[in-house]
Amino acid sequence: MKKTILTLLSITLITLGGLVQAKPITLKFSHVVAENTPKGQMAIKFKQLVDERLKDKVTVEVFPNSQLFGDNKVLEALLLGDVQLAAPSLSKFKKYTKKLQLFDLPFLFNDMTAAEKFQQSPQGHALLKTVENKGLTGLGYLHNGMKQISASKPLHTPEDAKGLKFRIMSSDVLAKQFEALDATPLKKPFSEVFTLLQTKAIDGQENTWSNIRSKKFYEVQPYITASNHGLLDYMVVSSAEFWNGLPDDIRSELKKALDEAIAFGNQIAAEKAMNDKQAIIDSKRTTVIELSPEERQQWVDAMKPVWKDFEGIIGKDMLDAAIKANQP
Ligand code: LMR
Repeated sequence: MKKTILTLLSITLITLGGLVQAKPITLKFSHVVAENTPKGQMAIKFKQLVDERLKDKVTVEVFPNSQLFGDNKVLEALLLGDVQLAAPSLSKFKKYTKKLQLFDLPFLFNDMTAAEKFQQSPQGHALLKTVENKGLTGLGYLHNGMKQISASKPLHTPEDAKGLKFRIMSSDVLAKQFEALDATPLKKPFSEVFTLLQTKAIDGQENTWSNIRSKKFYEVQPYITASNHGLLDYMVVSSAEFWNGLPDDIRSELKKALDEAIAFGNQIAAEKAMNDKQAIIDSKRTTVIELSPEERQQWVDAMKPVWKDFEGIIGKDMLDAAIKANQP
């Protein structure tokens, strides 16, 4: 009798154990852009890989287009456990670290090859760790691309931007960059940009070709200056509590899937930088302005002085390493 009760008890425990184990971990990934962007595609790829490899163990739910959280709220949501993964632009970490302001410095990287080279350097990896003491875990960089400036009037030289209102991401470097042009920067969430442009509450904004296309900014901005003046990349991030609390095998499978999804997103970013620019030109809804070398130099001369305001906070060693990444 005793034996039967013990057997029944162990069967129940095994079954319960099975049930407990069978409950998948849910990983909500919240972002603000459309699905047909580098970040949107990366998130979908990550979900596909996890579905294939960690079926029944992890469920990924992707929420694009600021459906769940806007960019100013998502990092708080991560820390509260309301979402488990996000990839805000490097310009949106001000409350968590000042070091990432490096990436906003105008005309820092000549191209995406230099940005990639720096991000994969020891200094680039060290910057991922600067969010750790705020309870976040930086899991990798993801590219979007170089920013362009769209406006209600043609911008050939910095003088042309004088007096205009530009939406910026929540970054003090970007604020200084537009102030250096005698323009007015306004920190606003990505989800509000189209309406602000459409209603003419602002005159312009800066963004990548893929964001300008996917959010239709080019339909409400008659001019886009192909300035390539700054970088818009992301940090893929989780909360340390969630990430470190995962079973080791699941965490390493998730990291592997993430690295593959990031590589895929980066490939899309490179393709979209060219294709989306061309599609915008072909739409004939806006005029894309190409700068002459002399005009471009004027933008460099106007914007680059803001570096000196941030050198101290960022650190000269970091800045030097980033500049060095431009060398072939
Ligand atoms: C923006 O706010 O303009 C961008 O950070 C949006 C994004 O995530 O690409």
